[in-house]
Amino acid sequence: MTDQSALPETPANMRHVHKPLNHDSAVKHVRGTATYIDDMPEPIGTLHVVPGWARQVVRGKLTSIDLDAVRKAPGVVKVLTADDIPGVNDCSAAMGDDPVLATDEILFYGQVVFAVIASSREAGRKAALLARIEAQPTTPIITAEDAVAADITVLPDYQFRRGSPETGMTAAENVLSGVFQIGGQEHFYLEGQVAMASPQEDGGVMVYTSTQHPTEVQHTVAKVLGIPDALVVAEVRRMGGGFGGKESQANQWASLAALAAAATGETCKLRLDRDDDMIMTGKRHDFRVEWQIGHDSQGRIRAVDLNFLARCGYSADLSLGVNDRTMFHADSSYFYPDAVIRSRRLKTDTCSNTAFRGFGGPQGMLTAERMIDAIAITVGKDPLEIRQLNFYDAEHNLTPYGMPVEEHEVMHDLFGQLVESSDYWARRDEVRDFNSHNAVLKKGLALTPVKFGISFTLKHLNQAGALVHLYTDGSVHLNHGGTEMGQGLYQKVAQVVADEFGITIDKVRITATNTSKVPNTGPTAASSGTDLNAMAARNAARVIKDRLIDFLCKTHQCGAEAIAFQDNKVFVGEQQFSLAQVAKQAHLARIHLSDAGFYATPNITWDRDSAGGRPFFYFAYGAACAEVTIDTMTGEMTVDRVDLLHDVGHSLNPAIDIGQIEGGFVQGMGWLTTEELVWDEQGRLRTHAPSTYKIPAASDIPEDFNVALYQSRGNPQDTIYRSKAVGEPPVMLANAVFCAITDAVASLNPGVVPDLDAPATPEAIMKAVRSIRRAQAGSRGAAE
Ligand code: MTE
Ligand code: MOS
Repeated sequence: MTDQSALPETPANMRHVHKPLNHDSAVKHVRGTATYIDDMPEPIGTLHVVPGWARQVVRGKLTSIDLDAVRKAPGVVKVLTADDIPGVNDCSAAMGDDPVLATDEILFYGQVVFAVIASSREAGRKAALLARIEAQPTTPIITAEDAVAADITVLPDYQFRRGSPETGMTAAENVLSGVFQIGGQEHFYLEGQVAMASPQEDGGVMVYTSTQHPTEVQHTVAKVLGIPDALVVAEVRRMGGGFGGKESQANQWASLAALAAAATGETCKLRLDRDDDMIMTGKRHDFRVEWQIGHDSQGRIRAVDLNFLARCGYSADLSLGVNDRTMFHADSSYFYPDAVIRSRRLKTDTCSNTAFRGFGGPQGMLTAERMIDAIAITVGKDPLEIRQLNFYDAEHNLTPYGMPVEEHEVMHDLFGQLVESSDYWARRDEVRDFNSHNAVLKKGLALTPVKFGISFTLKHLNQAGALVHLYTDGSVHLNHGGTEMGQGLYQKVAQVVADEFGITIDKVRITATNTSKVPNTGPTAASSGTDLNAMAARNAARVIKDRLIDFLCKTHQCGAEAIAFQDNKVFVGEQQFSLAQVAKQAHLARIHLSDAGFYATPNITWDRDSAGGRPFFYFAYGAACAEVTIDTMTGEMTVDRVDLLHDVGHSLNPAIDIGQIEGGFVQGMGWLTTEELVWDEQGRLRTHAPSTYKIPAASDIPEDFNVALYQSRGNPQDTIYRSKAVGEPPVMLANAVFCAITDAVASLNPGVVPDLDAPATPEAIMKAVRSIRRAQAGSRGAAE
């Protein structure tokens, strides 16, 4: 364990870092003056692009595409098909398997076949409906089970293994097994997919794109148009939410807008209709998990055998990283002495599933909690005891992939604090008492941990760049490769830069992410936006500041220790100047007042081929306690109280961090309780609008909702001001809600594990209630 008492103290002169300052755009968000791409002024002559698709076809070879009526429709300027693509017809992140426009085959219901360019969006939408597309239908593969039967995958199988799970399973006093279905999730970003492209001189194009990955949009557009990367600029000031859904899946819409701009010479905008957005774009992966766990009579885990079967959709997209992260999180916070963790990345004729907050981790962790609940119910102990019994500790600190859990003391301390502050044991008695007096309503309680690995498991993505200019009036222009999707990244980085120069934050001009300012960036994802970009920006600011210090030392004949930057002033011994005065003097002395900073995360050594090394710089920890009531006659559920305690190290901005924790939790709760994706037998998504897909509303926030930051001694790793990433980990705090529902159902028949799948919708709860009532008390293992 790292000696935390040795951590450096944060300097006392911090004016912005660690302060709960507003999000830089908070007021603009509320007033409606924050500019999203659809709010940007449209140049005269702007045209609108509408993707067209075959509404009758789920899967099959195209036999005819008749677009005559589309071309003749009012307002239509041009119609594009795959033949109109000058470069490569692919918008995939890596694998080359995502056509921008279909060529000879429809791969899933909703695949884009053509694009209408029209004078208005309405005209384009009406025209798109006039297409006559025919195909030779083939029976589509829709579910994970279908794909297993057909033995078809988008990527090779992968596994980690430690020790001998076979021997462990035989040696275990009891073995439990089951099948667990975990649903997917629609991103439901409030701002849907959108892009606007303007033709530039010499065949170049400027693309405004709602993306988490401007560099990938730039490269994709260049590839599709068949022009050099340097002729394309991608820019994004902010997204109205991304949640992983704009990590790779903004590429297609930006490419179509750029193709249209190149084809017409006009600015072209594409804003997806909400139903089209939900039908066409990928979602959180849903899983069939086949699990087996051996344990002793106390409930201590002996061996684990897991098989994760993921529905990936028609192409690979980000399924490699997502499914690897599921495997990395299949331990939750528990030590598995012997384990095999397998993963299959199944190919189905459905939209291509993609990144979603947690990036596969939530599905892995929920599986672990599911197994812990099964053990607890079987051995007749409180699930909390079984959780604590199996926690990583000093002797048992090695994950199944070989990385040690160094901060196990933090994990124990945080968890213990929440057990106290949530009053878990007293409330356990109250819940038991309530259940013994109520036949129809049943309460459930659960307290679950979070341990989430921070870093991209694809090593080269762990780098960032920034561009900082100091102007001669003392104001600062800030740019970096990270994108803003509401998470507060821009604000946090600005705070760091303001304190570096000792200036007030109004002097820092935050600017839109732009591939011509900071090139070759990774996506803003894996929660690492601040860790990476704040470091790169601080490095840039430091270089400029060091040049000023150097200059002042020479001109004032003093040492660097005599110089301080504070409150928009520069102190040189007894003298003080404004930063503007110093910047101006330095400029006259021909000193460079701009710098491009860079940062690469240290200590990451994961090697996928040998399944060894260290994939994560560190872990973020948290814990959640949830109490729910279910109605056993209707399946309705209410979340009565939630207590969250979460570790963000030394918070860069406690207000923003708490916002991320609350938002992440509620989004996770939606995934596990109300958000259900339904594809019919033919593979058509039936839940493609808010009328049929239920995200949490303000009224779904728990009535009693207590959120606190763990009093951390700081990240033991040398991160920016010893903070920890916060974007994704809180999603998994919502596992407590699912486990509390399991607990409530289990109260109906002690000793029997409820057959509850995720999401625990009223229907799923009813099904679990019915099956547990039918089951024989004392029977072992989950149903199925
Ligand atoms: N918060 C808001 N408001 N909107 C978002 O789209 N995306 C989440 C998380 N929090 C998101 C959000 C996801 S999926 C990630 S990976 C991180 O923010 C990305 O930003 P960060 O790396 O700066 O935390
Ligand atoms: Mo977040 S799922 O890594 O974009």
